[in-house]
Amino acid sequence: MERSQWGTRAGFIMAAVGSAIGLGNIWRFPYVAYENGGGAFFIPYLFALLTAGIPILILEFTIGHKYRGSAPLSFFRMSGKKAEWIGWWAVFVSFVISVYYAVIIAWAMRYTIFSFNQAWGEDTEGFLFNDFLQLNAVPGQTGEIVWGIFIPLALVWIITLGILLAGVKKGIEMANRIFIPTLVVIFLIVVVRALTLDGAMVGLDAFFRPNFDAIMDPSVWVAAYGHIFFSLSVAFAIMITYSSYLPKKSDITNNAFITGFANSSFELLAGIGVFAALGFMANQAGVPVSEVATAGVGLAFVVFPQIINEFPGFNGFFGVLFFLSLTLAGLTSLMSITETYVAGISEKFGLSRTKAVAFGGGLAALISILFATQGGLFFLDLADYYINQFGVAAVGLVEVVMVVWVLRKADTLQSHANSISDIHLGAWWKVSLGVITPIVLGYMMFGLLKLNIL
Ligand code: PHE
Repeated sequence: MERSQWGTRAGFIMAAVGSAIGLGNIWRFPYVAYENGGGAFFIPYLFALLTAGIPILILEFTIGHKYRGSAPLSFFRMSGKKAEWIGWWAVFVSFVISVYYAVIIAWAMRYTIFSFNQAWGEDTEGFLFNDFLQLNAVPGQTGEIVWGIFIPLALVWIITLGILLAGVKKGIEMANRIFIPTLVVIFLIVVVRALTLDGAMVGLDAFFRPNFDAIMDPSVWVAAYGHIFFSLSVAFAIMITYSSYLPKKSDITNNAFITGFANSSFELLAGIGVFAALGFMANQAGVPVSEVATAGVGLAFVVFPQIINEFPGFNGFFGVLFFLSLTLAGLTSLMSITETYVAGISEKFGLSRTKAVAFGGGLAALISILFATQGGLFFLDLADYYINQFGVAAVGLVEVVMVVWVLRKADTLQSHANSISDIHLGAWWKVSLGVITPIVLGYMMFGLLKLNIL
């Protein structure tokens, strides 16, 4: 069977950027930066981008391009059985993340509809937990399917698996070529509108005000590295899979820089938009920004609905665009993460794309129903906690240590990348991968282990 390929270079970049830009850019980055030094956070952040994010992105692009397989097959071709398991581990982490990532997209989709008439009412927190997620279910009822979540969730999976069924070029590439430019336009409108609200400047001041003491704190550096990994979707086997569909002649190093900077630009924009809106909220409520600043579920589904409630003039529009942005950003990431295990099992077991999508994607979709039940948020927290603690950092650490120190492939990969790219990889790349990244990730793991014993 001939291997699928991207139609154009822009198509591949769109897809890689689509994977990178996700919920993390919108609801995670602004608060992580704010909490970890504000304007000063950009120092560890840029450092992490240049010593871990982009170098690992180059590594994964090179592995996929050279060995032309999904992660397990690529690692197998690199060094046989003793490397294949790294690919499977990453594939497993991807599978687990996809199961709950889909659920959040389903919430965002539902909230897009709620935005039209602010169906959440005044008490947005009570609405989220009691009415929408039904966490206050009567004992005995816990575990029943919540249809308001189930239906959008089914839709999320139908869209995602439908796109994957259509293939790499006609499905994933086409979808990203439509979704990503749309997302950028919609999100720009959200940001510009937020910037024109009363109090926006107070929010920006809170976001950018540098606290230089913070950068002396190792935990701030750990936060920067942790965020870069998640945000760039590296160490999940995704970027290996995507680059395995590249044509032979592709400037992978340059592509990695473009992907990395596009992703960071988007999150900077998100930081500005989110904090401008938070400044407005704080202004409205007469409280400091610190009282309303938060991340994740609380930011998107409690605070943003409040902001939308307070909106001057017609408020439905802003809400619709905001939740649509979350939905689009999420869908393009979910596609990439699902493609990772679809490709993995299809190659391992010689299955057609259709069968692999049906089995792999179907299984993930079935498991995710668990989160569409009363009490589902509990499982979601649990999965998120363990995956973030032991999934990402651990896979990243094993990946770089194995490739550089155990399998000793850094030189081979470096010359492969250099033979097809304009930008030449030098010592910077090897030092980043072989020394800096392992030290930081090792520290992260060690710190986390301590955290768990306590
Ligand atoms: N990069 C995505 C984000 O910022 C998250 C993600 C991680 C998506 C891993 C897929 C795989 O939200």
